[in-house]
Amino acid sequence: MQVQPPIAMLAELTHRCPLSCPYCSNPVELTAREAELSTDDWRSVFQQGAAMGVLQLHISGGEPASRRDLTDLVRAARDSGLYTNLITSGIGLTEKRLAELDAAGLDHVQLSLQGTDAAMADRIGGYKGGYDRKMMVAKWIGAIGFPLTLNFVMHRGNMHQLGRAIEMAQEMGARRIEVATVQFHGWAMQNRGALMPTREQAAEANRTVAEARARLKGRLVIDYVPADYHADYPKPCMGGWASTGINVAPDGLVLPCHAAQTIKGLEFDNVRDRPLADIWQDGSAFNAYRGTDWMQEPCRSCERKTIDFGGCRCQAMAIAGDPTATDPVCVKSPDHARIRDLAADFSGQDEAPMTWRVMDKTPG
Ligand code: SF4
Ligand code: FES
Repeated sequence: MQVQPPIAMLAELTHRCPLSCPYCSNPVELTAREAELSTDDWRSVFQQGAAMGVLQLHISGGEPASRRDLTDLVRAARDSGLYTNLITSGIGLTEKRLAELDAAGLDHVQLSLQGTDAAMADRIGGYKGGYDRKMMVAKWIGAIGFPLTLNFVMHRGNMHQLGRAIEMAQEMGARRIEVATVQFHGWAMQNRGALMPTREQAAEANRTVAEARARLKGRLVIDYVPADYHADYPKPCMGGWASTGINVAPDGLVLPCHAAQTIKGLEFDNVRDRPLADIWQDGSAFNAYRGTDWMQEPCRSCERKTIDFGGCRCQAMAIAGDPTATDPVCVKSPDHARIRDLAADFSGQDEAPMTWRVMDKTPG
């Protein structure tokens, strides 16, 4: 099969992060600093990515600013010809460091927002003073003139702040806001009771986004990931497995999506052992659910199968216990009632405890 190259690469430089958000999309077993790829390893990854046709590099983590060589890595990516987008909490960035990143050629910044006031943001991020620091970083980003996207992850505790988050994006001069309802993988899966939005909240968020999109047309782009446990059809996760995106984890494992390691039986290659282009083209994990041949009914004969690609493989694994099943979010899935029940049950757990992400769960 002739495989088109990926458009975007997500480089998770490190799992280290000063924040400890309870919905972190990193795996529950975090990679320790000693196991991270070196500066030269990453340089090679960027060169290989560009050579195989990758256009955009999303530099993420953890917190990518926790890597002291971040500026060198941005320069290496730009030298390879990649468009560079830094996804950051802002913590660890100084005015001087941002100026250096600008000089190194950084193209775009995506700043995360855990809440629209210090009480919410610092509680969710588990980092006192984080909100004030982030607002300072936002000012520096604006002064340098980086194109800015604001990222707001929503859950039951902060969904009422959506309107204010959209206002803040405008005040900061952002061109885009990414409003994503928490996706239940990794750490968030352990916190479904504390984070699951109610059905009413999900509907209210849909209305707020629709109204804001109409009002701000041409001024602010709003990308939106609705609460999928309350939806009727799934999102086209990763734009289809192994079709447009490739993820490289801090230790060099190459993954089709950030939660792919939750699918038992998949084997992942490492950029330390095998060229990136080979992994993309021939890696067994990438070919496991590429295209549509792997689908079961009802996806196999569904008219939406090239629109949503059967939804999310990791969610099918987590809820249906089968990564080739229809994403249970879909009304046509035999497991759809189960996801509805889970949504109702978890969203009513007002006393549910919250587990913040901790690095020291890492073995070794
Ligand atoms: Fe999408 Fe499969 Fe549902 Fe059809 S049956 S809408 S392809 S998830
Ligand atoms: Fe893995 Fe959706 S998160 S396919």
